[in-house]
Amino acid sequence: MERQMVTRMVRATGDAMDMEGLRLAARAIAEGRLVAFPTETVYGLGANALDESAIREIYRVKGRPDDNPLIVHLADPGQIGTVAAEIPPMAVLLIERFMPGPLTLVFRRGAHVPPAVSAGLDTVAIRCPSHPVARLLIESAGVPIAAPSANLSGRPSPTRAAHVLQDLDGRIPFIVDGGACEVGLESTVLDVTGDDPVLLRPGAVTASQIEETCKVPVRYPGDSSHGPVRSPGMKYRHYAPKATVLVGTGRNSVLRVLDTLEIVRGQIAAGKRVGVFASSAVIDEIRTRREAEPDTGWPEHVLSFGDSGDSAKASARLFDALRTLDSEGLDVIVVQALPEEGLGAAFMNRVLKASAPESRGV
Ligand code: TXA
Ligand code: MG
Repeated sequence: MERQMVTRMVRATGDAMDMEGLRLAARAIAEGRLVAFPTETVYGLGANALDESAIREIYRVKGRPDDNPLIVHLADPGQIGTVAAEIPPMAVLLIERFMPGPLTLVFRRGAHVPPAVSAGLDTVAIRCPSHPVARLLIESAGVPIAAPSANLSGRPSPTRAAHVLQDLDGRIPFIVDGGACEVGLESTVLDVTGDDPVLLRPGAVTASQIEETCKVPVRYPGDSSHGPVRSPGMKYRHYAPKATVLVGTGRNSVLRVLDTLEIVRGQIAAGKRVGVFASSAVIDEIRTRREAEPDTGWPEHVLSFGDSGDSAKASARLFDALRTLDSEGLDVIVVQALPEEGLGAAFMNRVLKASAPESRGV
């Protein structure tokens, strides 16, 4: 793997803020270099959004396809007008309610924003993270920061500084460590350039919250009312694990637990090396059975997402669990499904992408 420089880790957790390190990281951004930084969703790989060669460097370091546009991060929603060409009325309502926070809006691109940020599209995605360290970094850099998730292309988004280091050690000058990301899934992406809002990626701001705010139905890109795919990133699989991901589904939580256990049993019986990411009910059951029948094979690598009713905790742990389990050289990772409502819809979107057979090898 390519290693060209020493990557400096800057501590920016509540009790230990390395202010000098943060100042140097902000200066690095202003000078056209790359800095990974924490947000409330996932870690971002940031560069000056107004500097074309810095943007090209993001694509190169990540190994990102060059037709997949980036999100521009601002410290303050009041600055959106400096990057977007216009702010439609429904966006005003969404900005008031959800920004700063885990919502990205796609606008018409302002004339002075380099097309490279948007992979040549005439739109631009904008987000104002609520994470105080992200806001401080953007403010100190004094420029809007273009940032995709700070993973190598094809790996799960990083939710801890250690994940960024796994992927980008020696490839970028700074990683700002703000601890574990609170949400753990990437932002909701919503296109507001048309008559109705189009949900390009589900996230912590849900479709029903958006509808409640705008009083218009949210559309999905799959709708026949829409033309070609509007978010190029959607055609890329974000995560292609080496292990096969199987999902324990069902109409209610009891059935989901049973289906998950059933899949685990079947895979073990077939001689597979199995890892599990599921509710504590499943994990406890596996542990109990392993003690009762030590000679029957049970999975060694089991990670709990807590109570199956707590979709926030399950979402916050998902990418960490997938990274951890996939590093164990397993054949199969079994994930317990969540109901597809609220944050559960975003969780299931990422899980199903990881489990899609067509994602493998990409
Ligand atoms: O939570 C997040 O959004 C994180 C943090 C770092 O802010 N960022 C992130 O960026 O997830 P990335 O690059 O991994 O995902 C951006 C998504 C992609 O699916 C991309 O195609 C879409 O947003 N996107 C960006 N600009 C767009 C545009 N102009 N039109 C349509 N989709 C766009
Ligand atoms: Mg990404």
